[in-house]
Amino acid sequence: MGNNVSVVCTNVTKNFGELGVLEDINLTVQPGEFAVFLGPSGCGKSTFLSLVAGFDFPSSGNIQVMDMDQAKPGKHVGFVFQEYALFPWKTVLGNVESGLLNLEKAERLDRAMFYLEKVGLEDFANEYPLRLSGGMKQRVGIARALAYDPDILLMDEPFGALDAQTRKYMQQELHRILEGFQKSVLFVTHSVLEAVYLADTVYVMSKRPARIVYREEIDLGEERHYTGDRFLQYREEILHYLNAQTGISE
Ligand SMILES: Nc1ncnc2c1ncn2[C@@H]1O[C@H](COP(=O)(O)OP(=O)(O)OP(=O)(O)O)[C@@H](O)[C@H]1O
Ligand SMILES: [Mg+2]
Repeated sequence: MGNNVSVVCTNVTKNFGELGVLEDINLTVQPGEFAVFLGPSGCGKSTFLSLVAGFDFPSSGNIQVMDMDQAKPGKHVGFVFQEYALFPWKTVLGNVESGLLNLEKAERLDRAMFYLEKVGLEDFANEYPLRLSGGMKQRVGIARALAYDPDILLMDEPFGALDAQTRKYMQQELHRILEGFQKSVLFVTHSVLEAVYLADTVYVMSKRPARIVYREEIDLGEERHYTGDRFLQYREEILHYLNAQTGISE
């Protein structure tokens, strides 16, 4: 699936009436880049993702989602939310198929099963969400978002509701699942460890109205494990900037 899409934000500002939420956001997420956003609660992270998704518009500035292959605007966005947002009355398969209603039945089934296999849930296709664990539900959400073959993947604290162990496992799984897809990902989290583990680039946002106060490129390669020296150095560095925003003393 050759997605080659970048997200370019230029002077993006967002107000809800008197409330300033985003201020002068300038950044580019390159094709295939995994960008992670950290910031104090309520600073505007979800608002930012909803602007990138096109659910709402900036008050000023602009966001371009560009397909680099075809020099035209990209449009398909896959969203994975913190709350699982699955249809409880549909099976696992039905949930993954729900974004594919424009396809012929056979193709829809093939596509959905391909992605269920990717996330390791092919044996649960006919189960209902109620019967799944939190981690499994989140896999269904990821399969559903990917099956749609979005140009970019937006993930808003997707692992926030999982226990610590499952969360780590899902972080590793997400790396594995996305391998070979070249998706641009914008991922919001409150966990610095999660950010360093997953990201190519980490952005720290300020208190509302959110500005980008720090950007760090994570270059770990094979050293991408939670206890490595360089991993912990990145963590310290990012935590320093994040704490300055949340008012936590070190
Ligand atoms: N549609 C809306 N209308 C008015 N105010 C809004 C709207 N959406 C969000 N807000 C406000 O914008 C601010 C930023 O909200 P947002 O949900 O983006 O924060 P967040 O960084 O995602 O927070 P959290 O980390 O708790 O998820 C909040 O003060 C919120 O009340
Ligand atoms: Mg949020």
